Amino acid sequence: MLAGCSSPEPAAPPVPQPAFVPFEGPHQAGITTLPIPEQGLVASFNMHVQDRAGLRTTLQELTEEIRGLMAGKPPETRDPAYPPVDSGILGDKPPPDNLSIVVGVGASLFDDRFGLADRKPRELETMPFLANDRLDPKLSHGDISIILEAGHNDTVQFALRQLMRRTRSELTLRWMIDGYARGIGAGQTSEAVTPRNLLGFKDGTANLDVDDGALMDQHVWVQPGDGEPEWAVGGSYQAVRIIRMFVEFWDRTRLAEQEALIGRKKVSGAPLGMTDEFADPDYVEDPDGKRIPLDAHIRLANPRTTQTEQNLILRRGFNYSRGFDGAGRLDQGLAFIAYQRSLQKGFLTVQSRLKGEPLEEYIMPVGGGFFFVLPGVTGSDRFLGDQLVD
Ligand code: HEM
Repeated sequence: MLAGCSSPEPAAPPVPQPAFVPFEGPHQAGITTLPIPEQGLVASFNMHVQDRAGLRTTLQELTEEIRGLMAGKPPETRDPAYPPVDSGILGDKPPPDNLSIVVGVGASLFDDRFGLADRKPRELETMPFLANDRLDPKLSHGDISIILEAGHNDTVQFALRQLMRRTRSELTLRWMIDGYARGIGAGQTSEAVTPRNLLGFKDGTANLDVDDGALMDQHVWVQPGDGEPEWAVGGSYQAVRIIRMFVEFWDRTRLAEQEALIGRKKVSGAPLGMTDEFADPDYVEDPDGKRIPLDAHIRLANPRTTQTEQNLILRRGFNYSRGFDGAGRLDQGLAFIAYQRSLQKGFLTVQSRLKGEPLEEYIMPVGGGFFFVLPGVTGSDRFLGDQLVD
């Protein structure tokens, strides 16, 4: 800044230092921890053990590995006559990189293999075909979901390989997708940091405030008295949707049309007719949709009425880009991930309101699944899902 200038520019928000995310807590940390790191990966696994005891051991091993990974535990050195105990991708001391790992279970885990049918979360089901879906079975469902997030892709890949190595005879990969571009600070209400999706719009502007514990209890965490099995209290329903975007078609669409489809300005992220990204879209003042069309994505997703308040969800997805298809079109999209206390009241209701939205012409859900994220772990003798399997 020039000496003598009387109006200093506002200071840029401080960039948080990379850290180790604490593993223990009443809920799995990766759902709400901030900042949301730039890299993400969803992996779904098939479980190959035969009985409840085998499942118990697998969950114990996963937990032990995740504990070490999230704390940056250095790998043991070993006699060179044996393979090393880790891939070495991160050198001899994994640096702090905001790594978090979240484990969920799919409806298929509650079939007759482990005798857990009577412990299934009430609303957990195999994700059905929904509006506009072309679900590829090779990219859908699974017994276990693992979501990894970190500041760098090598940290994510390191953690994934360690987890797979540890559980190689119990878990096999069914599908996975990795992605990026959430931006440091995503999820915090500061215009400078809201990341953009691959349609070029800011994504995450209107989301639940993860620092508001009461709000999280209300909309994200299963509570006692919800009619869910006791072990599930503190967990959350996870809806994963791999949604391809027809980006070449989108890029040929008029800007005014793009903004009408979303309901927000592309550059600023403000609701149409407004200038502040975080302004309330004020639908009461616009009952006929003259400013924000009635079928705009944000208006259908959250009409902001007293009644639809119960349908709020926590979104924490990421962009993906995985080459191109046989017709030479880019294979890009959104790995949409949402957390909610009730799948019916949350994702499924929001999705049913979006059914037939004009944005559907530009997107196509191709995979994903419904999972139930296990409650967090409190105490060094406990493990993820212990109350489910004991
Ligand atoms: C590729 C698919 C999608 C794209 C490109 C997309 C894009 C966007 C954009 C640009 C916003 C506005 C910024 C923001 O508040 O975050 C938004 C908001 C939102 N979207 Fe999506 N979205 C997609 C899929 C979905 C799905 C599948 C759901 C749920 C079923 C959903 C639910 C929401 C909700 C609840 C909001 C916040 C609305 C508000 O509170 O004002 N979106 N989305």
